[in-house]
Amino acid sequence: MSHTVDEIVFPSHFAWGASTAAYQIEGAWNADGKGSSIWDTFCHAKGKIFEDQNGDVACDSYHLWEEDLKCIQQLGLSHYRLSFSWSRLLPDGTTQHVNPKGVAYYNKVIDSLLANNITPMVTLYHNDLPQALQDIGGWKSLEIADVFDSYAKFCFETFGDRVKLWLTLNEPYVCAKLGHEDGIFAPGLKEPGVSVYLTGHNMLRAHAKAWHSYHTHFRQAQKGLVSLTLNSDWAEPLDPNSPEDVAATERYMAFILGWFANPIFLTGDYPEIMRSRIDAFSKETGYSEGPRLPKFSPDDPAVLGTADFFALNYFTSRKVKAPASSPRKLSFKNDQGAEEVLDPSWPICGVSWLAVVPDGLRKLLKYIKDTYKSPTVYITENGFSQMGPVEMEDMKRCVYYRDTLHEISKAMREDGVDVRGYFVWSLMDNFEWVDGFGVRFGLFHVDFSRPELTRTMYRSGREYAAIISNHRSRH
Ligand code: NOJ
Repeated sequence: MSHTVDEIVFPSHFAWGASTAAYQIEGAWNADGKGSSIWDTFCHAKGKIFEDQNGDVACDSYHLWEEDLKCIQQLGLSHYRLSFSWSRLLPDGTTQHVNPKGVAYYNKVIDSLLANNITPMVTLYHNDLPQALQDIGGWKSLEIADVFDSYAKFCFETFGDRVKLWLTLNEPYVCAKLGHEDGIFAPGLKEPGVSVYLTGHNMLRAHAKAWHSYHTHFRQAQKGLVSLTLNSDWAEPLDPNSPEDVAATERYMAFILGWFANPIFLTGDYPEIMRSRIDAFSKETGYSEGPRLPKFSPDDPAVLGTADFFALNYFTSRKVKAPASSPRKLSFKNDQGAEEVLDPSWPICGVSWLAVVPDGLRKLLKYIKDTYKSPTVYITENGFSQMGPVEMEDMKRCVYYRDTLHEISKAMREDGVDVRGYFVWSLMDNFEWVDGFGVRFGLFHVDFSRPELTRTMYRSGREYAAIISNHRSRH
């Protein structure tokens, strides 16, 4: 049974948002001085993306920003989360060359949001590393942390008088694992069991440097908050009475969430369970080139405490069991030692990985509260996709949002989780990475077959707008 809108009661300061990311919506991939990014390169190579599609045009938000703003207004959002394209601002990734047209574009976006009473939340990095930086080692290079820090400082300096909610990185897990282990995201590296940890490590170092820079140089004057977005599934043991499945589930959570959350929110270091598994597996397989899971160096700024709130992307849940055997091959999966199972009672929406489990979010929020010392939380992404023939009357998605918001309200009221805001992924249909335009997450439909790229509200958009306006009329 789905829940009605009226049951959903949130505090007056609650942030109602929707999210997007530069490469997924902007298009204009080489316009007005923009440098190329690893996603431009990756998509232009054949055979990487569904039907060889790419984000060259996408929703063309670079030219159609006013259309996006109308969508945001129609929904009545209080917040809008966007990302900056690093190579649009700094074409070669360094502050030596600033692209004034890139700066002008984001100034226009930010200023018009604020003029309409909409608070921007900005992600500095959402998958699209400048290609020039990839060419000198990308996230695998130690120097990247300083280069990212300079980029972050440039953004704080240029936009921080108006942007008060910053996210340094989006989903470092995904960038590291899909981009450097599985090779299905840019830069497309398949270097199992090694690069994934190095990449994650440098992303943490980069984030920590940028957070310290903000707090040292900008925070006092600008009074903003800085965090990073972590993605996590909720995982439960397939057989709760099996100690092996329970242990595998613990490992699943440690490798997906603890990997980044423990260093930042808990201990300043990786979960012990990760280090011991990885080191033991290195030994067993005869790997001898130093620890695969890097150590934090005393020369780096401390990572512990480098988040002013907990930013969570939640999409789905998993049942987990212990694998029958683990092959003697280095890989993240073998280190993790947890086999994912989809509960047949969970419906799938759109893509195969997306099981619909609204109450998994409540459990995950409680887990975050209990594990990470009750942080304030923004849910920076949550969504439901469709694939195949377009359904404008997308009832299942409407039910999904109602149920999910109901679970969040229970997490707040009954479990005492301090949730400050909720951002739907996504404002509109867009370029869904390796799945191209075939998977639609939007509150607005985008007609990619027409040059106007017309945006039309789905029923779920109307539903979300009604929830927001109902909430506003109560306060
Ligand atoms: C999270 C990512 O941040 C976003 O870019 C992506 O489109 C959604 N997941 C859906 O897969």
